[in-house]
Amino acid sequence: MPPQIRLHQILDWDSPQQNAHLRQELAAGLLQPQAHIAPKFFYDKLGSRLFAAITELPEYYPTRTEAAIFAEHLPAIRQALGEDFTLIDLGCGSCGKAGNFFHAGVLPSRYVAIDISVDFMRDSLQQLKRELPPIEMIGIGADFTHELDLPDDLASERRMFFYPGSSIGNFSPQDAGKFLQRLADNMDASGGLLIGVDLIKDHALLEAAYDDSLGVTAAFNRNLLRHVNARLDADFDIGDWQHVAFYNAGETRIEMYLEARRAVSASWPDAAGRSVRRFAAGERIHTENSYKYSPERFTALLASAGFANIQLWTDPRGWFALFFARPPQQEFKRPL
Ligand code: TRP
Repeated sequence: MPPQIRLHQILDWDSPQQNAHLRQELAAGLLQPQAHIAPKFFYDKLGSRLFAAITELPEYYPTRTEAAIFAEHLPAIRQALGEDFTLIDLGCGSCGKAGNFFHAGVLPSRYVAIDISVDFMRDSLQQLKRELPPIEMIGIGADFTHELDLPDDLASERRMFFYPGSSIGNFSPQDAGKFLQRLADNMDASGGLLIGVDLIKDHALLEAAYDDSLGVTAAFNRNLLRHVNARLDADFDIGDWQHVAFYNAGETRIEMYLEARRAVSASWPDAAGRSVRRFAAGERIHTENSYKYSPERFTALLASAGFANIQLWTDPRGWFALFFARPPQQEFKRPL
């Protein structure tokens, strides 16, 4: 018998309406003067597996550094979270980070795993439930960056949002502020937010983390086109595209693109017949930004989103930071 988890599938990638909507979104992005593909399309099943492999690469320090901060500061983190809380994992992926947490003895009463990659989340959550039967587990298949739709019967007390891995860096700072505000609006005064943030550092270290020597990050980025071909019935020749990643110091962000190795075109069916997009040699499709912060700037962002009591832990090299923040304890809540 499969272990007892509750599953809410808000996003069914393959329902006819969602699929039509996603196809439209993809086509619109590809037809812009600066073509782009939304990062959520990275995480088809293979993409989720490739991302899990990225986190094991020697160059990809964020996951490892964040885990070391957790291990080093476990007693303080445990104290911040308190007892009898609900851990809401935003983008749980393989549920590995939450799993490490639980195995280290930080145990919530309830674990809510949210991920856009629904099948991957379900498999991972079932595995975790086998390992830790006493924790109530709920899986939600949703794009939480779009809307945060928690089950109506989820207790509003002691909600601890867990957003590790520095995925907050994939929003622009302005959108990150709005997203953080939305989290603050979804918790009461007993709630909190535990969030990982990648810090500004040596440019070569940053660039290597997004362009590893084994080429796994390149494969992860190029896998987008495989997903696009499948979903849009498009005919991208993946061999024509290369991974490009560099640090833009002015914007304090890594920018990622797919770059055409030669003049190419891609086409896909549409209502009128076929849409065609031509790309010149060297032309790029934007796929993701990853913003890096100073501790001060991220603290200010949390404060502007309505958080208070901000704590932060970092590693000895100052490469990564883990923040814990709470809503203000006294003030009235902003109306929703
Ligand atoms: N959230 C991850 C990050 O910004 C995602 C990521 C890692 C990523 N490597 C990538 C996205 C390469 C696109 C391409 O660190």
